[in-house]
Amino acid sequence: MTLSLFEGVTQRQAQREELCPGATVLRGFAIRDEAAIFAQLSNITTAAPFRHMVTPGGFRMSVAITNCGSFGWVTDRTGYRYDRANPENGKPWPSMPDVFLKLAQDAAASVGFPNYVPDACLVNRYEPGARLSLHQDKNERDFNAPIVSVSLGISAVFLWGGLRRGDKPMRVQLTHGDVMVWGGPARLHYHGVLPLKDGYHPLAGACRINLTFRKAA
Ligand code: SIN
Ligand code: FE2
Repeated sequence: MTLSLFEGVTQRQAQREELCPGATVLRGFAIRDEAAIFAQLSNITTAAPFRHMVTPGGFRMSVAITNCGSFGWVTDRTGYRYDRANPENGKPWPSMPDVFLKLAQDAAASVGFPNYVPDACLVNRYEPGARLSLHQDKNERDFNAPIVSVSLGISAVFLWGGLRRGDKPMRVQLTHGDVMVWGGPARLHYHGVLPLKDGYHPLAGACRINLTFRKAA
């Protein structure tokens, strides 16, 4: 471990909660970077605005999404996939800001996933009422790499399920700055988000923003 990475991890001093082997919530881990994250988000969403995509079943997602990084997660009537280009304008997604990459790497390393190199960052925007039903993240090629998920803005109730859709999920309150990492035996656990309640956050306004880092290719 290099000195700078070690310092990065210790300076954050996050309190950890292990939900099950391979899945940990790092409370407040992203707070230190909040201003830089929101500055970068503004650039990203100017170049690639949030959009409500359509699921393969024909439903408009209540969560609005955009991406940064080499690959972006998209959905349309033909299915879910990772795409190098934004289907809205055919352009590559905005590149992943260093502060995003470093945050994801520090979080992964601090819970035992060193050398994490995510190539995709999905940005989810939840407005009051928006929700995400239980699903597994399984469009990625390599399940050895963990998922790193950063919660910003209004708090939400995250559902943390098991390996089967029917496993009763735990309810975990995720607030501004919390980072969740799941990998190894937890990599394919079902998860989702309950409908967002009304609220306000000084940086995010009346919404919740979630950054989900993945190694897609
Ligand atoms: C996701 O599963 O893509 C997002 C989860 C979250 O918003 O916390
Ligand atoms: Fe997910």
